[in-house]
Amino acid sequence: MPKSSAQQQHAPLDSAAVLAWYDRHARTLPWRTAPADRARGVRPDPYRVWLSEIMLQQTTVAAVGKFYARFLMLWPTVAALAAAPLEAVLVEWAGLGYYARARNLHACAGAVVERFGGVFPTTSTELLTLPGVGPYTAAAIASIAFDEPIAVVDGNVDRVLARYLALPVPVREEKDLIRARVQAAVPARAGDFAQALMDLGATICTPRVANCLLCPLHDGCTGRRLDPLAYPVKAEKPERPTRYGHAFVLLDADGDVFLRTRAEKGLLAQMTEPPVSAWLNEALPPDFPVDATWRHHGQVVHVFTHFRLELEIWSATIPDPALLTDGWWTDPAELNAEALPTVFRKALAMAGLA
Ligand code: ADE
Repeated sequence: MPKSSAQQQHAPLDSAAVLAWYDRHARTLPWRTAPADRARGVRPDPYRVWLSEIMLQQTTVAAVGKFYARFLMLWPTVAALAAAPLEAVLVEWAGLGYYARARNLHACAGAVVERFGGVFPTTSTELLTLPGVGPYTAAAIASIAFDEPIAVVDGNVDRVLARYLALPVPVREEKDLIRARVQAAVPARAGDFAQALMDLGATICTPRVANCLLCPLHDGCTGRRLDPLAYPVKAEKPERPTRYGHAFVLLDADGDVFLRTRAEKGLLAQMTEPPVSAWLNEALPPDFPVDATWRHHGQVVHVFTHFRLELEIWSATIPDPALLTDGWWTDPAELNAEALPTVFRKALAMAGLA
């Protein structure tokens, strides 16, 4: 009987080889303190590490870049961010998705100021008590900002380890094993090691390519000897259902557009929207919010984590704008100042605005 992956002997991760590789090939990233600078004693600013880690949750490095720069320009310190109105933070976050992160970001800045005097706590245990900071993020900040010797396992690192161990089951079934293998290898340069494994996964051991000849973990890697691209073993994915709805772009005689705030709770909570119908499991005809001559512009398709949305886009010029009281009118040239999630930007664009 073949041994399970947990029973098999694998060479420990060679952290010295990983660090040597990182010293030569670390990506230059806006929030990163380069390994040569760290070696000279330059310490990363935990505020910047935290901000980048929150933005990078479920969002790519490429997508985060300009948001990160703008946040730092507007709010260079955690105290500045804590003092900002939530609405301003939501406006700047618009487009990054997963908007609960923005509310937690603001709440976390407030907590750092109130509970820790504006100074980020330095241990993963304390960091874990902050809003929006889960086990991964607490480990990442503690490791990168303070060199706490703790395993930092994101999706990239899962893949590297799944290949290294030739894990015969989906990674979510062996999270503890993966974490233990990384933990056993964490060197004194914990922050560099954490980022090195992330970079390995992002540049060498990528989802579609395993560039084993360039990999510092080449010698001990079991997946390389078998078939690296056969790992990680895929988990069965539940199918994403489709939901259907309508968006109503209401214009007044001046061409201003009617917007309102979404509900307190639920998907895209408290973000800005044009009036929309409920999103249902079947496509129903539109129930127009006011009598007018409605024009159909087409359909926006947007993919959320748990469902796919087909949104029919309608617009009309409203004869009596005073009837609408649960929102406000905005000049389409000013839409950038609104906390509009991407799906509604697409809707307004399809109606000829934005
Ligand atoms: N993804 C999440 N955190 C990261 C970091 N610090 N560097 C590179 N990629 C990341």
